[in-house]
Amino acid sequence: MKITVAGAGNVGLVTAVCFAEAGHQVTCLDTQKEKIEMLEKGHIPFFEPGLEPLLEKNLLNGQLCFTTNPNQAYSEADIIFIAVGTPEKKDGAVDVSYIYAAVYTIANTIQKDVIVCTKSTVPVGTNDTIKQIFQQRKPRHIKVDVVSNPEFLREGSAVMDFFLGDRIVIGTDNPKAASIMEQLYLPLKIPILFTDIRSAEMIKYASNAFLATKISFINEISNICDKVGANIEEVSYGMGMDKRIGTSNLQAGIGYGGSCFPKDTKALVQLAGNVHHPFELLESVIKVNQHQHSLLVSKAKEMFGSLKGKKAALLGLAFKPETDDIREAVSLTIIKELLEEGSIITAYDPIAVPNAHKVIGNSIEYTTNIRQALKGADFAVIATEWDQIKHLSLDTYAAYMKEPIVFDGRNCYSLKDMERYPITYVSIGRPTIANVKHSPQH
Ligand SMILES: NC(=O)c1ccc[n+]([C@@H]2O[C@H](COP(=O)([O-])OP(=O)(O)OC[C@H]3O[C@@H](n4cnc5c(N)ncnc54)[C@H](O)[C@@H]3O)[C@@H](O)[C@H]2O)c1
Repeated sequence: MKITVAGAGNVGLVTAVCFAEAGHQVTCLDTQKEKIEMLEKGHIPFFEPGLEPLLEKNLLNGQLCFTTNPNQAYSEADIIFIAVGTPEKKDGAVDVSYIYAAVYTIANTIQKDVIVCTKSTVPVGTNDTIKQIFQQRKPRHIKVDVVSNPEFLREGSAVMDFFLGDRIVIGTDNPKAASIMEQLYLPLKIPILFTDIRSAEMIKYASNAFLATKISFINEISNICDKVGANIEEVSYGMGMDKRIGTSNLQAGIGYGGSCFPKDTKALVQLAGNVHHPFELLESVIKVNQHQHSLLVSKAKEMFGSLKGKKAALLGLAFKPETDDIREAVSLTIIKELLEEGSIITAYDPIAVPNAHKVIGNSIEYTTNIRQALKGADFAVIATEWDQIKHLSLDTYAAYMKEPIVFDGRNCYSLKDMERYPITYVSIGRPTIANVKHSPQH
């Protein structure tokens, strides 16, 4: 099939490359010229494991091409996927302007019948508006079927998620469009759920809201564990053994970040409010998450009294491992709060430093070498559970830091291992290890 993908971001590029890999003829369009030029040379503009080799291969064998030209991209396509950004507006609502801009361009450009399939996460009802726009703007003789096909990939494992996802959701009221979408996805052997358009749109928001709820729930339990002397690791392990609960998203930490959970939870709260059904549970989930972001700085303040002039090693800038994405990363909140307290920060990340520098600028130091970050630090804060941090030899902390005090927001190390080292180790929902007498005036 001739496929076009609008948007060459995390979702659009993975979709384009993977459909090309699956044997389709794919054109990917983005409005950013530099991005397209980079992609034409076989380089991806962000970090995603396994994506670049597939990109190079499919560029070479002619299955995949990139363009900024709508005529080239849309006029002859059988299916057009819209995968443009739907960022958060200041009030928490979704900015769907990129979606509608793409839709207007498509409507003005298409020259044959086409399925237009929304992959971007959009508020319930958006695809109905898209349908109306096509009705008003498309050439009369051309038939456009609008399908909702929300995306569930995770950054860092997006290629694997494309080929081995848990489910594919197809929202359509048109049996012919459903059948074409089925033909497209059947070779992947992933269960397909056919549903109406509004339910498909809601499945995406409800799924992300539920996962965020699990995270905030276990984080609240971890805060209570702290107070009652229980260990969250044992607690979540015991809970996860129950198949009805499961182990995923049940690891306590300093909260979720990234380009999806924060914005999608706020969008669902907005959506519920718009239909006069305040979503109080989800409002609490968001509140708990915000509180969790500040937990380690509060604990550091409690320990030191003042953080003014203290040297902090911030380990991990990306919102999660295996990505260079720092959108809504917890590290950003920690950096802001530490700077407000007057700390001097050196941040380590294996790949997210350039993106962080664009956002934070020169108010902190950056390094891609953990030891460099730890050198002479008064304390360390772990914000992302990178393997490079998890597998760091534990004597490094005492060897490099002024005082080996580690605030671990991701429970990277076992308490048993930590007990063997001269270190003060504060983690989430687990007893503190204090093998070093801390001197506040140090
Ligand atoms: N990132 C994820 O992990 C993820 C997962 C599931 C769903 N989603 C959803 O998928 C959508 C895309 O997310 P993303 O992370 O890929 O966004 P992104 O910001 O990485 O990429 C969006 C791309 O769209 C391009 N664009 C904007 N307007 C355009 C237009 N009119 N025509 C063509 N291209 C245009 C931008 O230049 C950009 O390259 C969002 O709705 C998001 O919520 C994201």
